[in-house]
Amino acid sequence: MIQCRVTKKKALVTGITGQDGSYLAELLLTKGYRVIGMMRRSSVVTFERIQHIQDQIDIIQGDLHDQSSLMDLIEKYKPDEVYNLAAQSFVPTSWNQPVLTGEVTALGVTRMLEAIRLLSPQTRFYQASSSEMFGKVREVPQRETTPFYPRSPYGVAKVYGHWITVNYRESYNLFAVSGILFNHESPRRGTEFVTRKISYGAVRIKLGLAKELRLGNLDARRDWGFAGDYVEAMWQMLNNETPEDFVVGTGEPHSVREFCDQAFAYLDMDYHDYVIQDQRFIRPAEVDMLVADSSRVRKTLGWAPRIDFTGLVEMMVDADLKRLGGEVT
Ligand code: NAP
Ligand code: GDD
Repeated sequence: MIQCRVTKKKALVTGITGQDGSYLAELLLTKGYRVIGMMRRSSVVTFERIQHIQDQIDIIQGDLHDQSSLMDLIEKYKPDEVYNLAAQSFVPTSWNQPVLTGEVTALGVTRMLEAIRLLSPQTRFYQASSSEMFGKVREVPQRETTPFYPRSPYGVAKVYGHWITVNYRESYNLFAVSGILFNHESPRRGTEFVTRKISYGAVRIKLGLAKELRLGNLDARRDWGFAGDYVEAMWQMLNNETPEDFVVGTGEPHSVREFCDQAFAYLDMDYHDYVIQDQRFIRPAEVDMLVADSSRVRKTLGWAPRIDFTGLVEMMVDADLKRLGGEVT
């Protein structure tokens, strides 16, 4: 009898403990992948987002600061796909820690690409690039050919990460792609990012746990989508026939004010009564408006978002209500 052994595809995900890492791991597991999640050592374990799938993932220590840890991982697993999601990803922190942001968010990309080039050049590589690279936008909406004008050390670091990915593709013929993703949110978003700060803050006020919510620029506009939809685009890019970069977003801009309005209204409150503008949250240089022209990814890969703005706001508020013990409306 002929025995047929099907080998599982192997994917290495950096940033496995982050918002996107958790959704991507779920997606890859449903597709039958063996998922290797890289996490950095810390004194407390941050498995909150992947607790439910922890026993299905190989969790391995590694750090984008550390070349040899990346080399060891790539040599040991020779993954079919690497998703480089790890980064110092919070824009305000990048002004306080610009050198660390450059080390991880920029040079970390080169460290991983070097490990792949030297030890496993057939591995396909996805770089988590960002709409923050468009910054002070040169055209509206933004597409793959829109020039970059980053407005924070984070944005500058991401521009480096983007171009080094393109360069390794062109210099060494690696299957390396850059996904230029616009803001994507979820109930797993960190509470310092504005959408989660609002959903969590509004629910706390509703439940009598807080009296006010202090925010920065309410007029900034973003193209907000649902993270669960965006990790599909990452997988599609690495499973495309040719290595290409794509812009991914909903094409719909909304202001921070609109997010507040909808979240508070969903809880039968008026945000004007609770939201206070606080100078502490105003950035040294702001990105006023981002909106994607994602027609290429829609046409070429067939990607489309499933959750709209209202669906996203309600999903996040419902999840925070559940977490904090209130009733879902
Ligand atoms: P996130 O929740 O902040 O997750 C970042 C991850 O990176 C965490 O797992 C973190 O580990 C890890 N990390 C940080 N420094 C590291 C280091 N030196 N070595 C190894 N791991 C390290 O971010 P996210 O929202 O999931 O975003 C994923 C990626 O997409 C990031 O590169 C981000 O810049 C990019 N991006 C995000 C968006 C968005 O709207 N979410 C849009 C465009 C691009 P700890 O848990 O230990 O902190
Ligand atoms: N965080 C935060 N906190 N932002 C506020 C606040 C506040 O209290 N008040 C207003 N904002 C405004 C910010 O000034 C910004 O214009 C907008 O809300 C969104 O801020 P964040 O949610 O922190 O996200 P971001 O757009 O700076 O960056 C996120 O999206 C990028 C993609 O464009 C991050 O996920 C980045 O990692 C990602 O690359």
